[in-house]
Amino acid sequence: MFCFSPSIGAILSIVTIISFSLPVVADCSRDVLVAAADSYVAAQTNGQLGDLQNILAANYQYQENNKAAQVKSGVLSQALKISHRKTTADTVACASYTELISTSPKPYVIGTQLRHSSNGSTVTLIDTIAATTGSLSFNAAQTLSYIEKEDWSPIDPAKRDSRVLLQQAADAYLDMWSNASAYNAVPWGTPCERVEGSALNQPCTVGAPKGGSSQRNSMRRYVIDETLGSADVLCAFTAVGNVADSHEFRLENGKLRFVHTITL
Ligand SMILES: *[C@@H]1O[C@H](CO)[C@@H](O)[C@H](O)[C@H]1NC(C)=O
Ligand SMILES: *[C@@H]1O[C@H](CO)[C@@H](O)[C@H](O)[C@H]1NC(C)=O
Repeated sequence: MFCFSPSIGAILSIVTIISFSLPVVADCSRDVLVAAADSYVAAQTNGQLGDLQNILAANYQYQENNKAAQVKSGVLSQALKISHRKTTADTVACASYTELISTSPKPYVIGTQLRHSSNGSTVTLIDTIAATTGSLSFNAAQTLSYIEKEDWSPIDPAKRDSRVLLQQAADAYLDMWSNASAYNAVPWGTPCERVEGSALNQPCTVGAPKGGSSQRNSMRRYVIDETLGSADVLCAFTAVGNVADSHEFRLENGKLRFVHTITL
């Protein structure tokens, strides 16, 4: 072992020299991600990109309801009065998730993931699921009334669940439609509530499927935030048709506490 240590030492010093000689590039800190989400919320409030424009990558993509779209013809170009806003930040994937509810001038429940370049400085994708009148169980005011009563405060650092566990819980849940065993893999909590459009389901197990579909829910895009115990997945609900969807899960002590669904 001894005879290898000088070369390991040499490699380490080279690595150290390299890392100190490069500019600081990685900044997907919570502050950076939340600041970008703030600009996004301002843009949605005004119906104009505004400051968000300054952090968009030159070749950024806009996606609405799982389809490539143009901002100018999308929901982001409508000025909405925002009655509820919650943002989670994924400092590993360099992305954020923002849940918005507007009841006027037009009712909307919106789930948006922003994906950043790996150094955090620019937004490369605005990925939105936007439900409005006509969407599944849609009633924005009702959804708002349930969600504002929930406690999504930060999880005590000593009690945070790992991102692996958060993602496993989300995947097990989304697999229930196509996999009969997935139901038992979901870490159901007590109490647990699911706000599904405007429908409140308590406990969360109400109506949970046990397989039956041959199509696994697909196109899963994750934003995972251990601080808030949240995993959001934008996906296509291929198990029941090709429906654009967001499922956000909050876990506390390893168990499911809240589920929010936005389904076209
Ligand atoms: C971050 O990455 C983008 C695109 O990859 C690049 O244009 C920009 O200069 C980088 N910024 C920093 C501070 O390194
Ligand atoms: C179904 O779910 C169970 C429990 O999570 C898992 O062990 C199994 O691998 C899944 N089967 C398939 C085909 O994905």
